[in-house]
Amino acid sequence: MFSLRSLLGLTVLFLLGQLALAQSTSLASIPASKLTQIFNFGTNPNNVQMFVYKPAKVATKPALIVASHFCTGTAQQYFQGSKFASLAETHGYIVLFPSSPHPGTCWDVSSDATLKHNGGGDSIGIASAARFAIANWGVDPNRVFAVGTSSGAMMTSVLTGAYPDVFKAGVVDSGVAFGCFSLPGQPGDTWNEQCASGQLILTGQQWAQRVFNAFPGFTGQRPKMQVWHGTADTTLFPQNFFEEIKQWTTVFGYPSTPISNVSEPFLPAGYSNATFGPNFQAILAQGVGHTVPLFEQQYLQFLGIA
Ligand SMILES: *[C@@H]1O[C@H](CO)[C@@H](O)[C@H](O)[C@H]1NC(C)=O
Ligand SMILES: *[C@@H]1O[C@H](CO)[C@@H](O)[C@H](O)[C@H]1NC(C)=O
Repeated sequence: MFSLRSLLGLTVLFLLGQLALAQSTSLASIPASKLTQIFNFGTNPNNVQMFVYKPAKVATKPALIVASHFCTGTAQQYFQGSKFASLAETHGYIVLFPSSPHPGTCWDVSSDATLKHNGGGDSIGIASAARFAIANWGVDPNRVFAVGTSSGAMMTSVLTGAYPDVFKAGVVDSGVAFGCFSLPGQPGDTWNEQCASGQLILTGQQWAQRVFNAFPGFTGQRPKMQVWHGTADTTLFPQNFFEEIKQWTTVFGYPSTPISNVSEPFLPAGYSNATFGPNFQAILAQGVGHTVPLFEQQYLQFLGIA
Protein backbone atom coordinates (compact mmCIF):
# COMPACT_ATOMS: atom_id res chain seq x y z
CA MET A 1 0.00 0.00 0.00
CA PHE A 2 1.23 3.48 -0.88
CA SER A 3 1.06 6.01 1.89
CA LEU A 4 0.72 9.66 1.04
CA ARG A 5 4.28 10.12 2.26
CA SER A 6 5.79 7.49 -0.05
CA LEU A 7 3.76 8.92 -2.93
CA LEU A 8 5.21 12.35 -2.20
CA GLY A 9 8.66 10.80 -2.02
CA LEU A 10 8.20 9.17 -5.39
CA THR A 11 7.01 12.45 -6.86
CA VAL A 12 10.11 14.23 -5.59
CA LEU A 13 12.33 11.47 -6.99
CA PHE A 14 10.55 11.71 -10.34
CA LEU A 15 11.00 15.49 -10.48
CA LEU A 16 14.69 15.19 -9.57
CA GLY A 17 15.05 12.61 -12.35
CA GLN A 18 13.46 14.97 -14.87
CA LEU A 19 15.76 17.74 -13.69
CA ALA A 20 18.80 15.48 -14.13
CA LEU A 21 17.67 14.62 -17.65
CA ALA A 22 17.13 18.25 -18.52
CA GLN A 23 20.52 19.12 -17.05
CA SER A 24 22.30 16.31 -18.84
CA THR A 25 21.91 18.29 -22.03
CA SER A 26 24.01 21.31 -21.09
CA LEU A 27 27.23 21.39 -23.13
CA ALA A 28 29.43 21.23 -20.02
CA SER A 29 27.76 18.07 -18.77
CA ILE A 30 28.27 16.16 -22.03
CA PRO A 31 31.31 13.90 -21.72
CA ALA A 32 34.03 14.79 -24.26
CA SER A 33 35.04 12.46 -27.09
CA LYS A 34 32.32 9.91 -26.42
CA LEU A 35 29.07 9.29 -28.28
CA THR A 36 26.35 10.27 -25.78
CA GLN A 37 22.58 10.09 -26.02
CA ILE A 38 20.62 13.21 -25.20
CA PHE A 39 16.98 13.62 -24.20
CA ASN A 40 14.45 16.41 -23.89
CA PHE A 41 15.70 18.46 -26.82
CA GLY A 42 12.30 19.66 -28.00
CA THR A 43 9.41 18.58 -30.22
CA ASN A 44 10.02 15.00 -31.32
CA PRO A 45 6.73 13.24 -32.12
CA ASN A 46 8.34 10.09 -33.58
CA ASN A 47 10.88 9.69 -30.78
CA VAL A 48 13.95 9.97 -32.98
CA GLN A 49 16.89 9.03 -30.77
CA MET A 50 19.63 11.62 -30.63
CA PHE A 51 23.33 11.22 -29.89
CA VAL A 52 25.95 13.94 -29.61
CA TYR A 53 29.71 13.86 -30.10
CA LYS A 54 31.53 16.70 -28.39
CA PRO A 55 35.26 16.91 -29.11
CA ALA A 56 37.80 17.54 -26.35
CA LYS A 57 38.26 21.13 -27.55
CA VAL A 58 35.07 22.79 -28.73
CA ALA A 59 35.69 25.84 -30.91
CA THR A 60 34.16 29.15 -29.83
CA LYS A 61 30.80 29.45 -31.56
CA PRO A 62 31.23 25.92 -32.94
CA ALA A 63 29.73 24.62 -36.15
CA LEU A 64 27.23 21.75 -35.92
CA ILE A 65 27.03 18.79 -38.26
CA VAL A 66 23.97 16.52 -38.24
CA ALA A 67 25.05 13.17 -39.69
CA SER A 68 22.22 10.80 -40.68
CA HIS A 69 22.72 7.07 -41.19
CA PHE A 70 21.49 4.71 -43.95
CA CYS A 71 18.70 2.09 -43.67
CA THR A 72 19.62 -0.77 -41.28
CA GLY A 73 22.21 1.59 -39.76
CA THR A 74 22.23 3.36 -36.43
CA ALA A 75 23.78 6.48 -34.95
CA GLN A 76 26.45 4.24 -33.40
CA GLN A 77 27.30 2.65 -36.76
CA TYR A 78 27.49 5.92 -38.66
CA PHE A 79 29.63 7.34 -35.87
CA GLN A 80 32.01 4.38 -36.09
CA GLY A 81 32.01 4.12 -39.89
CA SER A 82 32.77 7.77 -40.60
CA LYS A 83 35.41 10.35 -39.77
CA PHE A 84 32.95 13.04 -38.71
CA ALA A 85 33.77 12.53 -35.03
CA SER A 86 37.55 12.22 -35.40
CA LEU A 87 37.66 15.33 -37.60
CA ALA A 88 35.64 17.17 -34.92
CA GLU A 89 38.67 16.68 -32.66
CA THR A 90 40.73 18.60 -35.22
CA HIS A 91 38.23 21.33 -36.07
CA GLY A 92 36.21 21.77 -32.86
CA TYR A 93 32.72 21.34 -34.28
CA ILE A 94 29.94 19.33 -32.62
CA VAL A 95 28.24 16.35 -34.29
CA LEU A 96 24.69 15.13 -33.82
CA PHE A 97 24.03 11.54 -34.87
CA PRO A 98 20.28 10.87 -34.99
CA SER A 99 19.03 7.27 -34.89
CA SER A 100 15.88 6.20 -36.70
CA PRO A 101 12.95 4.99 -34.56
CA HIS A 102 11.53 2.79 -37.36
CA PRO A 103 11.91 -1.04 -37.53
CA GLY A 104 14.26 -1.20 -40.57
CA THR A 105 15.85 2.11 -39.48
CA CYS A 106 15.04 3.90 -42.73
CA TRP A 107 14.09 7.53 -42.15
CA ASP A 108 10.66 9.07 -42.51
CA VAL A 109 11.28 10.90 -45.77
CA SER A 110 7.88 10.34 -47.36
CA SER A 111 5.13 11.53 -44.98
CA ASP A 112 3.42 14.86 -45.55
CA ALA A 113 4.39 15.78 -41.99
CA THR A 114 8.11 15.24 -42.44
CA LEU A 115 8.13 17.13 -45.76
CA LYS A 116 6.56 20.21 -44.15
CA HIS A 117 8.31 22.91 -42.14
CA ASN A 118 7.37 22.34 -38.48
CA GLY A 119 4.91 19.72 -39.75
CA GLY A 120 6.09 16.76 -37.66
CA GLY A 121 7.57 13.40 -38.61
CA ASP A 122 11.21 12.48 -38.10
CA SER A 123 12.46 15.74 -39.58
CA ILE A 124 11.09 17.94 -36.82
CA GLY A 125 12.75 15.75 -34.19
CA ILE A 126 16.12 16.32 -35.86
CA ALA A 127 15.47 20.02 -36.47
CA SER A 128 14.51 20.35 -32.79
CA ALA A 129 17.87 18.94 -31.71
CA ALA A 130 19.69 21.39 -34.01
CA ARG A 131 17.63 24.27 -32.62
CA PHE A 132 18.38 23.03 -29.11
CA ALA A 133 22.11 23.03 -29.88
CA ILE A 134 21.91 26.61 -31.13
CA ALA A 135 19.92 27.76 -28.10
CA ASN A 136 21.89 25.90 -25.41
CA TRP A 137 25.37 25.00 -26.64
CA GLY A 138 26.50 28.24 -28.27
CA VAL A 139 26.43 26.72 -31.75
CA ASP A 140 26.83 29.27 -34.53
CA PRO A 141 23.40 29.43 -36.23
CA ASN A 142 25.13 30.27 -39.51
CA ARG A 143 27.12 27.03 -39.45
CA VAL A 144 24.53 24.32 -38.91
CA PHE A 145 24.92 21.60 -41.53
CA ALA A 146 23.36 18.29 -42.55
CA VAL A 147 25.11 15.32 -44.14
CA GLY A 148 23.96 11.77 -44.73
CA THR A 149 24.20 8.57 -46.72
CA SER A 150 21.39 6.80 -48.62
CA SER A 151 18.26 7.11 -46.44
CA GLY A 152 20.28 9.62 -44.42
CA ALA A 153 21.02 11.45 -47.67
CA MET A 154 17.29 11.61 -48.34
CA MET A 155 16.83 12.95 -44.80
CA THR A 156 19.50 15.55 -45.54
CA SER A 157 17.46 16.70 -48.56
CA VAL A 158 14.37 16.80 -46.32
CA LEU A 159 16.14 18.84 -43.64
CA THR A 160 17.62 21.36 -46.08
CA GLY A 161 14.37 21.56 -48.06
CA ALA A 162 11.92 21.89 -45.17
CA TYR A 163 14.19 23.67 -42.65
CA PRO A 164 16.23 26.14 -44.72
CA ASP A 165 16.06 28.47 -41.72
CA VAL A 166 17.97 25.95 -39.56
CA PHE A 167 20.36 24.24 -42.00
CA LYS A 168 22.82 26.33 -44.00
CA ALA A 169 24.23 23.56 -46.18
CA GLY A 170 23.74 19.90 -46.98
CA VAL A 171 25.87 17.08 -48.37
CA VAL A 172 23.78 14.33 -49.95
CA ASP A 173 25.65 11.05 -50.47
CA SER A 174 23.67 8.74 -52.77
CA GLY A 175 20.19 10.11 -52.10
CA VAL A 176 17.24 11.51 -54.02
CA ALA A 177 15.61 14.88 -54.68
CA PHE A 178 13.58 16.51 -51.91
CA GLY A 179 10.07 15.03 -51.90
CA CYS A 180 10.91 12.22 -54.32
CA PHE A 181 9.89 9.58 -51.76
CA SER A 182 6.61 11.40 -50.99
CA LEU A 183 3.83 8.87 -50.24
CA PRO A 184 1.00 10.68 -48.45
CA GLY A 185 -1.09 8.52 -46.14
CA GLN A 186 1.48 5.76 -45.78
CA PRO A 187 3.90 5.18 -42.90
CA GLY A 188 6.73 7.69 -43.18
CA ASP A 189 9.47 5.11 -43.62
CA THR A 190 7.74 3.41 -46.58
CA TRP A 191 10.07 2.64 -49.50
CA ASN A 192 9.12 4.46 -52.71
CA GLU A 193 10.17 2.13 -55.49
CA GLN A 194 9.14 4.49 -58.28
CA CYS A 195 11.53 7.10 -56.98
CA ALA A 196 14.27 4.66 -56.00
CA SER A 197 14.32 3.07 -59.45
CA GLY A 198 14.68 6.47 -61.07
CA GLN A 199 11.25 6.49 -62.69
CA LEU A 200 9.90 9.61 -61.07
CA ILE A 201 10.82 12.15 -63.71
CA LEU A 202 9.71 15.74 -63.14
CA THR A 203 10.65 19.11 -64.55
CA GLY A 204 12.95 21.38 -62.61
CA GLN A 205 9.98 23.64 -61.89
CA GLN A 206 7.93 20.73 -60.50
CA TRP A 207 10.83 19.60 -58.31
CA ALA A 208 11.50 23.13 -57.08
CA GLN A 209 7.81 23.55 -56.27
CA ARG A 210 8.06 20.60 -53.85
CA VAL A 211 10.81 22.47 -52.03
CA PHE A 212 8.89 25.77 -52.04
CA ASN A 213 5.70 24.05 -50.79
CA ALA A 214 7.59 22.67 -47.80
CA PHE A 215 7.94 26.15 -46.34
CA PRO A 216 5.75 28.67 -48.15
CA GLY A 217 6.78 32.20 -47.38
CA PHE A 218 10.45 31.40 -46.75
CA THR A 219 12.44 34.15 -48.42
CA GLY A 220 15.88 33.65 -46.87
CA GLN A 221 19.02 32.22 -48.41
CA ARG A 222 18.64 28.55 -49.38
CA PRO A 223 21.19 26.05 -48.01
CA LYS A 224 24.20 25.27 -50.20
CA MET A 225 23.94 21.76 -51.60
CA GLN A 226 26.49 19.18 -52.68
CA VAL A 227 25.21 15.87 -54.07
CA TRP A 228 27.21 12.72 -54.79
CA HIS A 229 26.06 9.65 -56.73
CA GLY A 230 27.47 6.52 -58.37
CA THR A 231 26.60 5.54 -61.94
CA ALA A 232 26.34 1.86 -60.93
CA ASP A 233 23.84 2.48 -58.11
CA THR A 234 21.04 -0.09 -58.35
CA THR A 235 19.39 0.86 -55.03
CA LEU A 236 18.76 4.52 -55.79
CA PHE A 237 19.27 4.58 -59.55
CA PRO A 238 21.56 7.27 -61.00
CA GLN A 239 18.60 9.03 -62.65
CA ASN A 240 18.01 10.40 -59.15
CA PHE A 241 21.25 12.35 -59.49
CA PHE A 242 19.93 14.13 -62.57
CA GLU A 243 16.55 14.77 -60.90
CA GLU A 244 18.42 16.34 -57.97
CA ILE A 245 20.28 18.56 -60.42
CA LYS A 246 17.01 19.73 -62.00
CA GLN A 247 15.61 20.48 -58.55
CA TRP A 248 18.43 22.43 -56.98
CA THR A 249 19.48 24.34 -60.10
CA THR A 250 15.87 25.53 -60.40
CA VAL A 251 15.67 26.40 -56.70
CA PHE A 252 18.88 28.45 -57.03
CA GLY A 253 18.01 29.84 -60.46
CA TYR A 254 21.18 28.36 -61.95
CA PRO A 255 21.61 27.11 -65.52
CA SER A 256 20.70 23.44 -65.90
CA THR A 257 24.08 22.59 -67.40
CA PRO A 258 27.28 22.91 -65.36
CA ILE A 259 29.54 25.92 -65.73
CA SER A 260 32.43 23.54 -65.10
CA ASN A 261 32.69 19.77 -64.87
CA VAL A 262 36.11 18.47 -64.02
CA SER A 263 38.00 15.63 -62.40
CA GLU A 264 39.69 16.61 -59.14
CA PRO A 265 43.18 15.54 -58.08
CA PHE A 266 41.94 14.59 -54.61
CA LEU A 267 39.11 12.38 -55.90
CA PRO A 268 39.47 8.93 -57.51
CA ALA A 269 39.66 8.62 -61.30
CA GLY A 270 36.19 8.57 -62.83
CA TYR A 271 34.74 11.13 -60.42
CA SER A 272 33.48 14.33 -62.08
CA ASN A 273 32.73 17.48 -60.12
CA ALA A 274 30.06 19.58 -61.85
CA THR A 275 29.59 23.12 -60.57
CA PHE A 276 26.40 24.99 -61.45
CA GLY A 277 26.99 28.03 -59.29
CA PRO A 278 28.56 28.87 -55.93
CA ASN A 279 25.87 27.02 -53.98
CA PHE A 280 25.43 23.81 -55.91
CA GLN A 281 27.80 21.05 -56.96
CA ALA A 282 27.06 17.55 -58.22
CA ILE A 283 29.71 14.83 -58.14
CA LEU A 284 29.14 11.74 -60.28
CA ALA A 285 31.27 8.66 -59.61
CA GLN A 286 31.74 6.48 -62.68
CA GLY A 287 31.27 2.77 -61.97
CA VAL A 288 30.54 3.29 -58.26
CA GLY A 289 27.51 1.54 -56.74
CA HIS A 290 25.42 2.19 -53.66
CA THR A 291 26.80 4.06 -51.82
CA VAL A 292 29.59 6.46 -52.81
CA PRO A 293 32.27 6.23 -50.08
CA LEU A 294 32.44 9.18 -47.70
CA PHE A 295 34.84 12.02 -48.50
CA GLU A 296 34.58 13.82 -45.17
CA GLN A 297 37.54 16.12 -45.81
CA GLN A 298 35.92 17.39 -49.04
CA TYR A 299 32.60 17.85 -47.26
CA LEU A 300 34.27 19.96 -44.57
CA GLN A 301 35.85 22.10 -47.26
CA PHE A 302 32.47 22.62 -48.89
CA LEU A 303 30.96 23.48 -45.50
CA GLY A 304 33.72 26.00 -44.87
CA ILE A 305 35.01 24.15 -41.81
CA ALA A 306 38.35 22.94 -43.19
C1 LIG B 1 30.30 15.56 -66.01
O1 LIG B 1 31.08 14.86 -66.95
C2 LIG B 1 30.98 13.44 -66.91
C3 LIG B 1 31.91 12.87 -67.97
O2 LIG B 1 33.17 13.31 -67.79
C4 LIG B 1 29.57 13.02 -67.19
O3 LIG B 1 29.46 11.62 -67.07
C5 LIG B 1 28.63 13.67 -66.20
O4 LIG B 1 27.30 13.36 -66.50
C6 LIG B 1 28.83 15.19 -66.19
N1 LIG B 1 28.05 15.75 -65.10
C7 LIG B 1 27.00 16.53 -65.31
C8 LIG B 1 26.27 16.98 -64.10
O5 LIG B 1 26.63 16.87 -66.39
C1 LIG C 1 34.09 21.15 -57.07
O1 LIG C 1 34.47 22.32 -57.70
C2 LIG C 1 34.27 23.47 -56.92
C3 LIG C 1 34.55 24.67 -57.81
O2 LIG C 1 35.85 24.64 -58.31
C4 LIG C 1 35.18 23.42 -55.71
O3 LIG C 1 34.97 24.54 -54.91
C5 LIG C 1 34.85 22.17 -54.91
O4 LIG C 1 35.77 22.01 -53.86
C6 LIG C 1 34.87 20.94 -55.79
N1 LIG C 1 34.26 19.85 -55.02
C7 LIG C 1 34.81 18.66 -54.90
C8 LIG C 1 34.11 17.70 -54.05
O5 LIG C 1 35.83 18.36 -55.48
